Amino acid sequence: MTASDRVCVIGAGSSGIAACRALDAAGIAYDCVEKGSQVGGNWRYRNDNGQSAAYRSLHINTSRRLMEFREYPMPEDLPDFPSHFQIAAYFDDYVEHFGLREHIRFRTEVVAVEPVPDGGWDVTTRPYAASGDGATASGDVPTAGAPTTARYRAVVVANGHHWDPRWPEPAFPGEDGFTGERMHAHAYDTPDVLAGRRVLVLGIGNSATDIAVEASRTAEKTFLAMRRSAHVIPKYVFGKPMDELQSGLASKVHVPLAVQRASAGALLRITTGRMTDYGLAEPDHRLFEAHPTVSSELLGRLGHGDIAPKPNIDRFLGGRTVRFVDGTEEELDLVVYCTGYRIRFPFLDEAIVSTADNHVPLYRRVVAPGRPGLFFVGLVQPIGAVMPLAEAQSQWVAALLSGETTLPDPSAMRRAIADEEAAMARQYLASKRHTIQVDFHDYLRLLRRERRLGRAAADTGTPLSRVGAVARRVRARVGAGT
Ligand SMILES: Cc1cc2nc3c(=O)[nH]c(=O)nc-3n(C[C@H](O)[C@H](O)[C@H](O)COP(=O)(O)OP(=O)(O)OC[C@H]3O[C@@H](n4cnc5c(N)ncnc54)[C@H](O)[C@@H]3O)c2cc1C
Ligand SMILES: NC(=O)c1ccc[n+]([C@@H]2O[C@H](COP(=O)([O-])OP(=O)(O)OC[C@H]3O[C@@H](n4cnc5c(N)ncnc54)[C@H](OP(=O)(O)O)[C@@H]3O)[C@@H](O)[C@H]2O)c1
Repeated sequence: MTASDRVCVIGAGSSGIAACRALDAAGIAYDCVEKGSQVGGNWRYRNDNGQSAAYRSLHINTSRRLMEFREYPMPEDLPDFPSHFQIAAYFDDYVEHFGLREHIRFRTEVVAVEPVPDGGWDVTTRPYAASGDGATASGDVPTAGAPTTARYRAVVVANGHHWDPRWPEPAFPGEDGFTGERMHAHAYDTPDVLAGRRVLVLGIGNSATDIAVEASRTAEKTFLAMRRSAHVIPKYVFGKPMDELQSGLASKVHVPLAVQRASAGALLRITTGRMTDYGLAEPDHRLFEAHPTVSSELLGRLGHGDIAPKPNIDRFLGGRTVRFVDGTEEELDLVVYCTGYRIRFPFLDEAIVSTADNHVPLYRRVVAPGRPGLFFVGLVQPIGAVMPLAEAQSQWVAALLSGETTLPDPSAMRRAIADEEAAMARQYLASKRHTIQVDFHDYLRLLRRERRLGRAAADTGTPLSRVGAVARRVRARVGAGT
């Protein structure tokens, strides 16, 4: 086998289709391999890939103008925060509009990606037996078949990072003896599982707030337990999506974090008040030191007394009794663990790219240093939406593959990764949910700059590190931001 001139894209979720579009636009030949029978990944409700976390009532929590692909805006008649049905339909339209569907091999799973010593990657796939509960487009269920291997010049990994449920590590003492039911948010679908029961929702990320709000309308009693409180951000402020308000200036110029924090903090204080006003503990961190928890309903449900806040679980006492760290105890029928997700690439050896504790060492969150031709798209958790970032990442990858721009050498990339990890550790709380965070607008600017400098380096044959140094000196002289 010789290294083909084709590129393999793994996954046809929103990130994978953005990668397909960018490769297509750059005239780069590619195949996209998708486990399920439709595009949209997480946004395909009851996706027969068995991986979607979408529940029946899910709506986006990043407003549509922030979430839409820049190259293909969402229809103006969509609401500010569309449902997963509308978002999946938008991704269908995107694929049709750009003619990408014929390049996607559905119901096919990538099971191994291995580097070839002389360059390129061997990608092994096999037909995927779709999970039974989701209806496939044609209603039939494929059977698993024999694996086949094809060689590619490059691989773009877009397999998503919200499909492998993370349970508490270590487990709470006594958990095995609990006679009630335990489930992870990933498996949550409709509120009938909550109806008439005493439910504990654990965590205060966006899954926890949505599910606690649903429970508060159907359960006999709803508790929301958390190991730390959160700044709960409303979807709307002054009649506008809060993220759009925040985005106005930040989309044009770099706004220092302290200024963003002060302005958003003031808005929240005026419009919402303090978290303690609603019975939550005071957060142990400042705004934007944790991934935003966005809900316009949670605080009201707390105010109605329909959700009772609790501190973290201490232990399970046997039977259906759970003790919390403040010493209180409750009898529970169901615990919903909204404790986040693990990042994993089951088809890649950990020695190629490590995912220990959700830390994935990638240059600009895209490039695996020392692994030419291996790229990751959509592996970011922004304060803002993922899609435009996956789109910009994809365009950068296409520019790299077409030779329009270039990369620093692997050691410079590793140094940049260490610097980025240090910066992330300074900004965010130490938690496995904060390992791939980026600031939406700053990250877009960073990718644009990376592409520009790489282009200058490619044009002049100068190493990127030197182009970067010159650019930094020029910027320092003219006093421009990034
Ligand atoms: C409940 C929930 C709500 C969210 N809400 C928002 C929001 O409002 N705004 C926002 O910006 N983000 C949100 N997110 C983040 C979410 O991750 C992104 O919106 C988006 O789904 C990321 O797209 P993706 O393509 O990277 O991953 P996915 O949507 O997970 O798609 C990955 C695709 O890869 C395929 N795949 C995986 N492994 C293989 C394999 N081995 N072989 C072949 N195919 C494979 C899967 O079948 C899937 O189609 C939310 C996440 C969750 C869990
Ligand atoms: N569109 C929407 O409305 C929507 C809905 C759901 C989810 N989402 C998105 O989906 C992604 C995943 O969200 P998520 O809420 O499922 O996960 P998450 O953001 O990772 O939040 C996990 C929560 O569980 C807590 N936790 C983790 N381990 C714990 C333990 N051992 N004991 C106690 N608490 C523990 C975390 O606390 P710490 O902070 O202390 O780690 C955090 O509160 C996010 O990007 C989110 O924005 C969006």
